[in-house]
Amino acid sequence: MNDFRISNASQFEGKIVTVQGWVYNMRSSGKIKFLMTRDGSGIMQGVLVKGECSDESFDLFEKLTQESSVQVTGVVRKDPRGNFELGVQKIDLITMADAYPISLKDHGVEFLMENRHLWIRSQKQWATLRVRSEIIHTIHEFFHKEGFVHFDAPILTPSSCEGTSTLFSTNYFDEKAFLTQSGQLYGEVGAMAFGKIYVFGPTFRAEKSKTRKHLTEFWMVEPEVAFANLADNMDLGEKFVEYVVGTVVEKCGKELKILERDLKELETIRGPFPRISYDEAIKILEKRGVGIPWGEDFGAPHETALGEEFGKPVFVHHMPAEIKAFYFKQSDTVGGPGVTGNGKYALGCDLIAPKGYGEIIGGGQREESVDALKRRIAEHKLDEKDYSWYLDMRRFGSVPHSGFGLGVERTVAWITGAEHVRETIPFPRMLNTLRP
Ligand code: 4AD
Ligand code: MG
Repeated sequence: MNDFRISNASQFEGKIVTVQGWVYNMRSSGKIKFLMTRDGSGIMQGVLVKGECSDESFDLFEKLTQESSVQVTGVVRKDPRGNFELGVQKIDLITMADAYPISLKDHGVEFLMENRHLWIRSQKQWATLRVRSEIIHTIHEFFHKEGFVHFDAPILTPSSCEGTSTLFSTNYFDEKAFLTQSGQLYGEVGAMAFGKIYVFGPTFRAEKSKTRKHLTEFWMVEPEVAFANLADNMDLGEKFVEYVVGTVVEKCGKELKILERDLKELETIRGPFPRISYDEAIKILEKRGVGIPWGEDFGAPHETALGEEFGKPVFVHHMPAEIKAFYFKQSDTVGGPGVTGNGKYALGCDLIAPKGYGEIIGGGQREESVDALKRRIAEHKLDEKDYSWYLDMRRFGSVPHSGFGLGVERTVAWITGAEHVRETIPFPRMLNTLRP
């Protein structure tokens, strides 16, 4: 295998190398020809000059089409602006590409989405997906450093975690199964066995929403910690998000530049993040002219307003219990001791990203009383027999515990400044989008 990659061209200065890649762009300036080749790690300019480059290669250059696959051999040298370029000696054609549908000019997003399998070769998509890869690596790194065990939850499940309205169902031999909405309930099992775990995998929601934040298939990382309360949970979320952003700033400078992302702004994303109760948030929304009645969930305008108020991620905690899932521990007062029963508030915490990127973390403290949980399961019209194993976590050594889920695509969108979460995953799945 060829160990030359465009990304490490600086190590090959003065050496003859072969770039294995695809034609990105071509142009001529008098007798000199320029061939831009991409190899997946970057784009490099090749310069063809008569006398230095074979005549056959000059002839081939005239015939080349965008995205044809080639091997370009030449000498690595520094151009006047300090970039590494190739003094081309020879071009070998691997295959000539048909007329490529995506040119370097602008296209409509519908067309690009139909051609997602080709669109990801374009610079901005390429950079976004590289940042995604780095973020996923960093997520694993963070939790391993913090002593968490990586714990897998099943994808096919018999029960719902986040309410029954967004379940995708499938036949499972003689019964019905659902694609998981969240690995949390299984993560709680892991926390009771290992103390600190994180689940990381794809999750599914039959969301009919057509917003820039909703996918039907998205990836979630879900830490769960035994003996942790709501404040501990926010401490962990804050440390985690700070670490992820800091690592991307440190390692993805090239990609963020392609994406024209304001680095200065990202550098300010450091803890402590403000923590406000839902009641306080309601007052802020009122003041900013986007008030909602107590008990309603936030929509896009409210999340945007909270972002403007604080300019960095903000935790909202103690939400109205009636709009939250069955498993939350509840409290009758904000900041008061949790009550086992039906309190007014759920001990939840959502982290809202700035600039309307929305909620990137959702989580909270879990109900640890078996009786209270049984009541909630009934109130939410869920079938207790599907949750008997979950109730066992409360029967056999129940402890206070907390966790959260961070949505990978929304996090990538916020950090890269993507317009829509569809650009942050190779093959987005959304209402009306199942192909390619
Ligand atoms: O707030 P959610 O629904 O929380 C849970 O699923 C909990 N069971 C997690 C836990 O405590 N272990 O979802 C968590 C996060 C959201 O904050 C958001 O970032 C992301 O998952 N998310 C979505 N991302 C893209 N498209 C969607 N349709 C999403 N729904 C949630
Ligand atoms: Mg949520």
